[in-house]
Amino acid sequence: MSGMRATGQLHIGHYLGVLKNWIRLQHEYDCYFAVADWHMLTTGSDKTDPLRDNTRDIVLDWLAAGVDPNKATIYVQSAVLETAELFLLLSMITPVNWMQRDPTLKDMIRDLKMAEDTVGHGLLGYPALQTADILGVMGDLVPVGRDQVAHIEISRDIARRFNHLYGVDYFPEPRPLLTDTPVVVGVDGRKMSKSYGNDIKLADGPEQVQSKIMASVTDPARIKKTDFGHPEVCAVYAMWEMLGREKAPEVAELCRKAEIGCVQDKKALAAHINEILAPMQERRRELATNPGMLEDIIASGNAKARATTRETVERVREIMKLNRFSESGKPVFGA
Ligand code: TRP
Repeated sequence: MSGMRATGQLHIGHYLGVLKNWIRLQHEYDCYFAVADWHMLTTGSDKTDPLRDNTRDIVLDWLAAGVDPNKATIYVQSAVLETAELFLLLSMITPVNWMQRDPTLKDMIRDLKMAEDTVGHGLLGYPALQTADILGVMGDLVPVGRDQVAHIEISRDIARRFNHLYGVDYFPEPRPLLTDTPVVVGVDGRKMSKSYGNDIKLADGPEQVQSKIMASVTDPARIKKTDFGHPEVCAVYAMWEMLGREKAPEVAELCRKAEIGCVQDKKALAAHINEILAPMQERRRELATNPGMLEDIIASGNAKARATTRETVERVREIMKLNRFSESGKPVFGA
């Protein structure tokens, strides 16, 4: 099970850091992939204007990248109301200080420059909501980016605590799964992130890719083309290592010997990236012409995720010995 917040267009970092694993795992596991629209509210409850379009766009990005709706269940978090119930119940057994210690939450609060008194109850509960997503479908492997690992550790703790408190062996203890490029470098050499403005979107056309790569930073000590380069300090080379591992050693060699200039190198990288993106963009254009198909994919994913999560929640109610009601709403007392 995994998910992404619906906050806008995906970039190469999402692809290399997360989606590659989704695409691989869908052949081996019963996968559930959610658009986490409730999670988006934890920091953007006043910025919902683009939410519906973002939801469509992110699913299009997933499909274009190779997530196969015939193999994996693609759904929208908020269509599974049972997740909210599970979130509430799990919240009862989750100590507040587990959340307060979560380094990823601390980073989010710092990066968004949030004053402490603006951190909402919902944001504090972020890892518990994520846990409800995962445990609702009995997820054990969670393919995510490195920033999510701290959350998944809390999910493990919550699952373990539930099992311990109620003396059951019900919930799996979810484990995070990273790709071989868990941290993707952007055009300025920092971690690729929309908020740093250093990302290359999966939807960027050839000119956009070219101009972003042309503006990227190389070895600052290499002023003239005849200067020997140092690939290890160059953002362009870092991108070669991530995106064109088979070509990287040759590029490094040419750069060190000053046999290739930065401009030429950048052009080659841009062309290479465009080759990777072109088939995705082609698929995306095709998919976008058939909105009914997209709606059907999400509808059937929603139904499946909902049925699975409902089963989980019903079992949890039993395990926790909560009140039961008959079809007509009458309480069923006693053990
Ligand atoms: N927090 C994740 C992110 O920001 C999104 C997410 C929501 C998620 N629910 C999840 C990831 C469940 C893994 C499992 O990308």
